[in-house]
Amino acid sequence: MPSIQLKTPSANYAIEIASGLIRKLPARLKKLKNGKPFRPFIVTSSEIWGLWGKQVLAAFGKDQPTVLFLPAGEKYKRLRTLESLLEQLAEAGADRDALLIAFGGGVVGDVTGFLATIYMRGITYVQVPTTLLAQVDSSIGGKTGVNLAAGKNLVGSFHHPLAVLADTDLLTTLPASELRAGLQESVKAGIIRDPKLFRYLESNAQAVLRGDAKALTHVVAASVRVKADVVANDEREAGLRMILNYGHTLGHAIEAATGYKQLLHGEAVGWGSIAATRLGLMRGLIGEAEADRIIRLILLYGPLTPIEVKASKLVDLTSNDKKNRSGTLSFILPAKVGRAVIVRDITREELLEAAQWMLEQMRSQTTKPTAKAKKKNRR
Ligand SMILES: NC(=O)c1ccc[n+]([C@@H]2O[C@H](COP(=O)([O-])OP(=O)(O)OC[C@H]3O[C@@H](n4cnc5c(N)ncnc54)[C@H](O)[C@@H]3O)[C@@H](O)[C@H]2O)c1
Ligand SMILES: [Zn+2]
Repeated sequence: MPSIQLKTPSANYAIEIASGLIRKLPARLKKLKNGKPFRPFIVTSSEIWGLWGKQVLAAFGKDQPTVLFLPAGEKYKRLRTLESLLEQLAEAGADRDALLIAFGGGVVGDVTGFLATIYMRGITYVQVPTTLLAQVDSSIGGKTGVNLAAGKNLVGSFHHPLAVLADTDLLTTLPASELRAGLQESVKAGIIRDPKLFRYLESNAQAVLRGDAKALTHVVAASVRVKADVVANDEREAGLRMILNYGHTLGHAIEAATGYKQLLHGEAVGWGSIAATRLGLMRGLIGEAEADRIIRLILLYGPLTPIEVKASKLVDLTSNDKKNRSGTLSFILPAKVGRAVIVRDITREELLEAAQWMLEQMRSQTTKPTAKAKKKNRR
């Protein structure tokens, strides 16, 4: 069973990846608490709990945890949701012995982590990520928080969990579109830091997309290794951790241009990665064959929903991005499969050209079902 240790200046914890982990959850929690008394509080949303709650509660036997709910969806990743959860914790008599268990995707994980930071000035929590994106990305690294009207993740903290327990069985109920979108973060991990993972994703796409347990465990573990390794070397994003933003600068602009409604995050990142690869090619950082290989892999894990937007609008939205410095933009560009570099002087004209090229690729893809229709498409 893959277990990856994440060691940073402020934390040291295991990320376990295996099938059947939720059955062992109570025993794992006891071990993490080292025999100290604790009271488990599961934070989840009813959609996920409806699918998995029974099994989790059965694992706890007679020592049942308290379950707190937040509504599903990015729009509830807000301070008012936190306030309601804080009140519920207090009402339930939670004290400093409370151990929160984030049982859900990235939204539940980010909110629960922040809840654990501020309740009674800090209590412990464990991540049990239930989406692919949460297993390979959001549950790892200690970034927690909520959104403001002005932008995503503008309020938050660094607060690491005691452990991340990623049960790959949970992915069996994930809609196919969510699986594909999450896999774009794994593709990203391969591009920026792990040529072996990249090759594995190339050669085993069918098994991975089918949700084959062995293939998914391999991909999740390799992706986690990349993130854990980067975070261990740069916990507070002073430099290296920025490479995890590969594909995200333009990806965020695409999400903003479409009101965060038309595409899943991973799809926007996929398009953003294609544009970043084009920029790498334009700068002569990467050769044509390598760039082609990268773009082919991104599209292999598609289809990515196309959008109708002007390149200039995307560029304008990118200028609002926090990576902007003195008129030019910082971008993470691929130098070859498995290596990315930070380039700090991308001009508006260069970005416009790359965005235009990316939009042409979108148009040449066949028409895709809407995101809404895809959500119903469970595997
Ligand atoms: N903290 C970080 O470092 C970090 C990194 C990347 C992303 N994020 C955040 O993560 C969030 C996105 O996370 P996400 O993609 O997991 O979205 P999400 O949490 O909204 O989950 C996506 C959907 O899947 C459903 N779902 C969850 N698990 C399921 C399961 N096992 N079976 C069926 N349905 C399930 C959810 O109810 C939801 O409708 C964003 O808010 C983003 O900002 C945080
Ligand atoms: Zn992302």
